[in-house]
Amino acid sequence: MFAQLEDIERAASAALQAAEDEAALEAWRVAYLGRNSPLMKVFDQMGQLPKEERPQIGRRANEVKRALEQAMAAKAEFLHQAALARSLEAERLDVTLPGRSLGRGRLHPITQTLRHIYRIFAEMGFQVYRSRDVETDEYNFLLLNFPPHHPARDMQDSFYIQGPSLQDNPVLLRTHTSPGQIRAMREYSAEDPLNPPPVRIILPGMCYRYEQVTARSEIQFTQVEGLAVGAHITFSDLKGTLSDFARRMFGEHARARFRASHFPFTEPSAEMDIECFVCGGAGCPVCKRTGWLEILGCGMVHPVVLQNGGYDPERYTGFAFGMGPERIAMLRHRIEDIRYFYGNDMRFLEQF
Ligand code: DAH
Repeated sequence: MFAQLEDIERAASAALQAAEDEAALEAWRVAYLGRNSPLMKVFDQMGQLPKEERPQIGRRANEVKRALEQAMAAKAEFLHQAALARSLEAERLDVTLPGRSLGRGRLHPITQTLRHIYRIFAEMGFQVYRSRDVETDEYNFLLLNFPPHHPARDMQDSFYIQGPSLQDNPVLLRTHTSPGQIRAMREYSAEDPLNPPPVRIILPGMCYRYEQVTARSEIQFTQVEGLAVGAHITFSDLKGTLSDFARRMFGEHARARFRASHFPFTEPSAEMDIECFVCGGAGCPVCKRTGWLEILGCGMVHPVVLQNGGYDPERYTGFAFGMGPERIAMLRHRIEDIRYFYGNDMRFLEQF
């Protein structure tokens, strides 16, 4: 029995040496300390031994058992440390490496320009009024005093949407933000038709024209329309508001001038130029040697348009204007081609 215990201990120790991972260690435990292991058999057979031998054999068997349990615990700890060292090596992090910087987000230059425009007009008491991109011929042209065959319609070759039921009043992508004037005036005047409230709004949005794409014109671009309607509004209010806008947008010393022009929905009509801030009015390639840069169209709202919006032209007057934020951004940042704005080239966009 003693010799048997010696053999068990020797065999178990040798096998433990060979166990190289936790699965092997578990297999070893089952084989040498498990219920059916030779060592457990020794304990089972203890009852058949002569009484006097039992204490010595029992003590020895317990020693072997404890020795094997301790050896197993030591091996388990060793395997655990080895596994840890291996994973530390494999998943090594160099905390001294510089971090990867996140790209900084930014607003599109046109969005920035629009927000600048909103801010300036907000300070003057104008609210933003959103109007639809898809319009009818009636709102885009007729109600703005363009009769069906008015030659001004040629200036704005349009994207019409086809369909048999649309023949009398075709649907199109708006060619300018001006139809929003009618929608806003109608909404306001519906509130109180006899005493319609005063209007002070700007109408920003995308416009669409079926034109050849060039450095100066895109088929898609933004406009900001402005509209003020009420009692006693005069052309000097228009001039004051827009001159002030020019100073706030282009700087304290920006000078503005008004030139007579024509639009079907305003009478009289004008265009506003600002003094070229590149050459200070002396003449340069940016202003085509005129010293002035055109930035918007404007005028006193035509009586027919007031009427179409529900405002009695005998009692109310108003002014309107329409500007192109792309053009303003091009002038301010000296961008020579409008196509950059919608080309999605990061090298361009990252500069703003
Ligand atoms: N709708 C005009 C255009 O697209 C711009 C414009 C001119 C708007 C004069 C106005 C205005 O409100 O009074 O060319």
